[in-house]
Amino acid sequence: MKQYNVGIIGATGMVGQRFATLLENHPWFNVKVLAASPRSAGQTYEAAAGSRWKMAVPMPESMKNMILMDASADIEKIASMVDFCFCAVDMKKDEIKALEEAYAKAECPIVSNNSAHRFTPDVPMVVPEINPDHIEIIKAQRQRLGTKRGFIAVKSNCSIQSYVPALHPLRKFGLKNVLACTYQAISGAGKNFETWPEMVDNLIPYIGGEEEKSEQEPLKVWGEIKGNEIVKASTPSITTQCLRVPVSDGHTAAVFVSFENKPSKEEILRLWADFKGVPQELELPSAPKQFIHYFEENDRPQAKLDRNLENGMAVSTGRLREDTQYDYKFVCLSHNTLRGAAGGGVLLAELLAAKGYFD
Ligand SMILES: NC(=O)c1ccc[n+]([C@@H]2O[C@H](COP(=O)([O-])OP(=O)(O)OC[C@H]3O[C@@H](n4cnc5c(N)ncnc54)[C@H](OP(=O)(O)O)[C@@H]3O)[C@@H](O)[C@H]2O)c1
Repeated sequence: MKQYNVGIIGATGMVGQRFATLLENHPWFNVKVLAASPRSAGQTYEAAAGSRWKMAVPMPESMKNMILMDASADIEKIASMVDFCFCAVDMKKDEIKALEEAYAKAECPIVSNNSAHRFTPDVPMVVPEINPDHIEIIKAQRQRLGTKRGFIAVKSNCSIQSYVPALHPLRKFGLKNVLACTYQAISGAGKNFETWPEMVDNLIPYIGGEEEKSEQEPLKVWGEIKGNEIVKASTPSITTQCLRVPVSDGHTAAVFVSFENKPSKEEILRLWADFKGVPQELELPSAPKQFIHYFEENDRPQAKLDRNLENGMAVSTGRLREDTQYDYKFVCLSHNTLRGAAGGGVLLAELLAAKGYFD
């Protein structure tokens, strides 16, 4: 496979650190640029991020002495050094929109973990096992931006990564109503227990903007390309409650679902077991071999035991049973900063690379 030079914009942050560790020994992608705010620019990665390193594994040796660039002031220079960039920054939404478009217009494709462009109609929001075909909208986006190579592709919010994969193969039974309560880890807020001690022995019943994202993003992921845009699916009807819980990593969802044509429990389990997508067919380096794992034990999946399944890229399900108000209920879990953030971004980039979008 061809080798690609890549940059990480927001390298000092929680998601950026995850990108750095995932890309350290990547078979296709070589990190050439680390960028962050003007506060960090000009310092080595170690000086700027060493004291706030939040990963369980150490900072990659090969990156410690790299000098951080200024994500906004150095766009042209960065674009000339890499084939594409990952982006995960904490800025205002309109600033992120403008920053990502500026990179695209400088002919530097952006694979983004930010939410700013998720509902831009010609920006694909991709879960590679579910809607890999949405990357074809990039042609229309390039026309709008007036670019040859540059474009923006985004991954979805971490909360939907746990339940949308489990629901996807069941759509053929006419998914009607979905109720999902999510129990979300503190790393989703860029925090750990040292930086957020108030979360020990606590639960906060509100995560700003999360319920809207959790209800709307699945409909874009299940949407279809019509002309120059992705038109959202009109079903199912989704309602959610999103809670912050005292868990370091791993978002759990308790899901209730009803169908037009109710499948049997065996049919659901078979569809989960057999679910393979393009990443598995193409054997992309970060793709889990088995996307959805079902646990028979009543007390699984558990965040602490099961979030790292298949390097944190698989989704775990369990407790599938009939319900008195909906047809079925079940539980699912995914690692929010691996599959739900940087790992999902790397898998999307692998899909784009395999399909020639960075050439
Ligand atoms: N599912 C997902 O895709 C997912 C999951 C979690 C988070 N996110 C998103 O990823 C983004 C980053 O989250 P995080 O938890 O990693 O945040 P974080 O730990 O607060 O890190 C923020 C990063 O943004 C950089 N930054 C801040 N202001 C900047 C500016 N003006 N110009 C350039 N860079 C700037 C920071 O650089 P300095 O260190 O120099 O300040 C740092 O590298 C957010 O948009 C978040 O919503 C997505």
